[in-house]
Amino acid sequence: MLQFQVNQPACIRCGECVFDCPSRIIGVDAGYPAIPAEKQSSCIRCEHCLTVCPTGAISILGYQPADSMPIEGNLPDPVQLETLIKARRSVRRYREENVEPELVQRMLNVAWHAPTGVNSRQVLFTVLDDREKVARLRDEVMEGLVRLSKENAIPKSMAYFSRFVRVWERQKVDLIFRDAPHLLIATAPKGVACPKEDCLIALSYFELFAQANGVGTVWNGLVKWAFDLLPEARKNLGIPEDHLFGYSMTFGIPAVRYARTVQHSPALINRPM
Ligand SMILES: Cc1cc2nc3c(=O)[nH]c(=O)nc-3n(C[C@H](O)[C@H](O)[C@H](O)COP(=O)(O)O)c2cc1C
Repeated sequence: MLQFQVNQPACIRCGECVFDCPSRIIGVDAGYPAIPAEKQSSCIRCEHCLTVCPTGAISILGYQPADSMPIEGNLPDPVQLETLIKARRSVRRYREENVEPELVQRMLNVAWHAPTGVNSRQVLFTVLDDREKVARLRDEVMEGLVRLSKENAIPKSMAYFSRFVRVWERQKVDLIFRDAPHLLIATAPKGVACPKEDCLIALSYFELFAQANGVGTVWNGLVKWAFDLLPEARKNLGIPEDHLFGYSMTFGIPAVRYARTVQHSPALINRPM
C-alpha cells in the first residue's frame, strides 16, 4: 500500500534512506532498501526516504523523485529571508480587489507543506476567496454582535466588541475585518496529536509566503473571538464540528507599502548553565 519502490540500477546502497527514516522501518533486502510488510503501517508518510536519496532511486506513495523540486541552488538567500521576516507587517489597509485565484490556490498549496505533529496533515483551510463572501460574513457577524450587545450577552472580557459594533453602526467603519477582501481560517480535527500547533504553523507559513508574493496578511484574533461568540456563523461556513478552530487570518492586496523593516529590542533568551 505504501508503493515503496527502489530503482535498483540507480540505488548506490548508501543507507541514507534507512538511517533517515524517523520510524526506522526501512531495512535491507538482498542488498537494497525495503520495508517489510508488517512494518508498513508504522510509516508516517513523511517521504524522508524519497527526499534524502542522493540519486533519486526511491519512490513512495506513488510519488516520483523527478516530480520534486530540486533543492540545491534554489533556496532563498538567508539575507533575503531575514528581510522577509523583518519586513512582514500586519496589513490593515487593502485594495478593493480580489487576489488572483491561482495565487490563492498556490499560497494554500505551499502552506499545506508546513509540518504537522506525527505528519497528520489534517489542517483544513476554510477560505473566503471573494470580497463579496467576506462582506456577507462581516454583515452576519456584525448583526450577531449587535444582537448580543443588545442582550448584554457579550462577556466583560470581550467588551471591546460593543465598541466595534457601535463604530460599525454609526460610521460603517469595520474594525474587525478591516475591509479585507479575503479570510482564511485554519482548523484541525481535535483528535489529531497537535491540532492547535498544526494550524498556527500552517498559517505562519501561509503568511510569509503570501507576503513574499506581495499579499498582505493579518492574524485576526477579533474574527476568531467573534466566531467563539457566534457558533452559528462558524457552522454556516461548513467548518466541521469536531474541528478545533486554530486561528483566522485576513488577507488581500495591500493599499499600503512599508519602506523599511521593523526594529525590535534583542530577543529574550534564557541560557541555563
Ligand atoms: C495571535 C495574534 C492575533 C492578532 N489579532 C489581531 C486582530 O484581531 N486585529 C488586528 O488588527 N491585529 C491583530 N494582530 C496583529 C498584531 O497586533 C501585530 O502582529 C502586532 O501589533 C505587531 O505588528 P506587525 O505584525 O505589523 O509586526 C494579531 C497578531 C497575533 C500574533
